[in-house]
Amino acid sequence: MYASLKSIGSFVPKKIMTNKDFEKIVDTSDEWIVQRTGIKERRIAADDQATSDIGALAAIKAIERSNISKEDIDLVICATLSPDHLAMPSTACLISQKAGIRNVMAFDVSAACSGFVYMLSIAKAFIESGAKKNILIVGAEKISPLIDYSDRGTCILFGDGAGAAIIGVTQDKNEAILDVHASADGKYADLLITPGCGSKYPCRAENVNDKLQYIKMSGNEVYKVAVRTLTKDVVDILKTNGITSNEIDLFVPHQANLRIIEAVRNKLNFPAEKTIFTVEKYGNTSAASIPMAINDAYEEGRLKKGDLMLLDTFGGGFTWASALVRFGGN
Ligand code: COA
Repeated sequence: MYASLKSIGSFVPKKIMTNKDFEKIVDTSDEWIVQRTGIKERRIAADDQATSDIGALAAIKAIERSNISKEDIDLVICATLSPDHLAMPSTACLISQKAGIRNVMAFDVSAACSGFVYMLSIAKAFIESGAKKNILIVGAEKISPLIDYSDRGTCILFGDGAGAAIIGVTQDKNEAILDVHASADGKYADLLITPGCGSKYPCRAENVNDKLQYIKMSGNEVYKVAVRTLTKDVVDILKTNGITSNEIDLFVPHQANLRIIEAVRNKLNFPAEKTIFTVEKYGNTSAASIPMAINDAYEEGRLKKGDLMLLDTFGGGFTWASALVRFGGN
């Protein structure tokens, strides 16, 4: 009995923020942003759309595209770094309610941009142990409220969006999640962090005045560790599974920065035609980045049942993860 990624869906907010829009609020240029990051635009959720709202819309699409109904779902997991509420309820609880899924276990995963691949690992274990049969996993992010729009080093990078998948059971290894590697190292915590509004620097006026609620990042250092880790991750998972890069149908890297993707792709000799790029239009959507990318490949007709995907991601924590997934959907 194997776990299988049976369907994919995403939701993209309507509002587009272009590089030109950033030229009006910080000292930057379209040329600088495109050259350093490859990002041209990103989506921003509406004031009345919280993370659970966009997550639920992605979830509903993934359910519609599967061969199950919402009543068949027995576990809901949401990965996010921008939950609706800091402590409770979990965003997974709210997504369940908004998608009409009742009386099932629901919880959030906190692994920043690696969240979707972390959820694959959890869902695979639940399915293969026989504990659950149909799991909804949602990567959903409304990152815009966590952004300091006067910090040009971070504000241009991130966007809002959501992606979801149904993980079910299969007897056929040709449509199975073959392997997931996930890891973390807290020694890098300060390089990419939202310091405030947790238990360490609570949401008090003095901490908010110091802007501790916003994302802080040492971009250059994050960049170097990201390239190194993403590359090593891929080499390790291919070697462990005795698979060569020629056998991969789609390389789906975390969409943080085009230069990072290209550095990893070139080191591993992956052809661009087999790589998914969405960073140009969405920026970095953290835990939503990989499912949104898979969704776009699916909608473009680039993903067929049985295709072998290689997922590779990296994020705050630091966390990192990779996965070999044969697509189990139609
Ligand atoms: N527009 C114009 N100039 C900018 C800028 C912007 N938006 N952001 C930073 N700069 C400036 C810096 O202030 C610095 O100026 P200085 O030399 O006068 O001090 C200069 O550009 C170079 O800064 P640096 O940070 O060295 O640039 P970089 O080439 O490393 O690019 C990032 C910056 C953020 C694009 C890059 O480091 C990056 O993408 N890092 C990884 C980020 C990431 O992916 N994080 C999420 C991981 S999940």
